[in-house]
Amino acid sequence: MAAQAEPIHDIAHLGSVELFTPKPEESLWYFRELLGMEVVHRAKESVHLRGYGDYATSTLKLTASRNAGVGCVAWRAASPQALERRAKALADAGLGIGWTNGDFGRGRSYRFRDPDGHTMEIYFEEQKFVAPPELHSNLKNLPQKYTGRGVGVRRIDHLALLASDVEANRKFATDLLGFQLREQVRYDNGKTEIGSWMSPTAIHHQLAYVVDVKGAHGRLHHFSLWVDNRDDVLRAADILTENGVFIEAGPSKHNNSQGFYLYTYEPGGNRVEIYSGSFLVTAPDWEPVTWNEEERGTGTYWGATLPDSFIQYATPDVEGKGELAKTPEFPVFF
Ligand SMILES: [Fe+2]
Repeated sequence: MAAQAEPIHDIAHLGSVELFTPKPEESLWYFRELLGMEVVHRAKESVHLRGYGDYATSTLKLTASRNAGVGCVAWRAASPQALERRAKALADAGLGIGWTNGDFGRGRSYRFRDPDGHTMEIYFEEQKFVAPPELHSNLKNLPQKYTGRGVGVRRIDHLALLASDVEANRKFATDLLGFQLREQVRYDNGKTEIGSWMSPTAIHHQLAYVVDVKGAHGRLHHFSLWVDNRDDVLRAADILTENGVFIEAGPSKHNNSQGFYLYTYEPGGNRVEIYSGSFLVTAPDWEPVTWNEEERGTGTYWGATLPDSFIQYATPDVEGKGELAKTPEFPVFF
């Protein structure tokens, strides 16, 4: 057997995602009242929220902005030493921005950009979440009471970023951050990498890169929140529809990841996925699963075909029709 490079285990998990919103009050209503997240902190133009099962104090940061899109994607390091190692590796690769004093509830962080230009950071120190009395859970191992408000999302799960060059960004995530590649979509006899799904944890994927059919940079395809079962996804469809929120696709089942999903747009315009049912990966020698055009089909295992907007729309939105999206049936993803 050929010798393999020692795996990098310096990143523990996805820590938080910052979403930009041109409609901060409406976006806050969506995440707090409809999805059931809690507000933990407000600072200037930002509000920090959490899911009831998130151990971290804050996992979503909503920031008022002119356009929708993704701000800083934060990853927690496995240790202080791991943080230093990754900071050096990223700086050596020419991707570093520099050290910060840390966001709310956290110690210093090292900021950098992925090859496509998305802003990310790594941190280690994290303040433990202590629930205020009204959110105290009677369940000792639950960080916060399950309030049952709205959808009641448990925790953040993953995000999908668009990239003009999926291969370059996939290599960055696997080679520099140490993520394990879980699944890929490749067309044209494997020559064209359409999408790659990766994770630093047993969670099927915490980061996906999918081709930006409009050739733009730094865009968000979707941000995903976890619920415990399929019934919760169906209930989310009822709650969102009752409140006039657009559902773009689902509830249906993906072939890749086996996830049961629903895609919606929060009022600021960012695509949000309510997600459950995907499988865990614990094998250290996991062999990535590759799908070609034929195997990939429409990207759904069953349920309605994903609409054209699923390929064309991302945040921030850009004009024009993506040349790479050959037909409305352009098979994808996620
Ligand atoms: Fe997803």
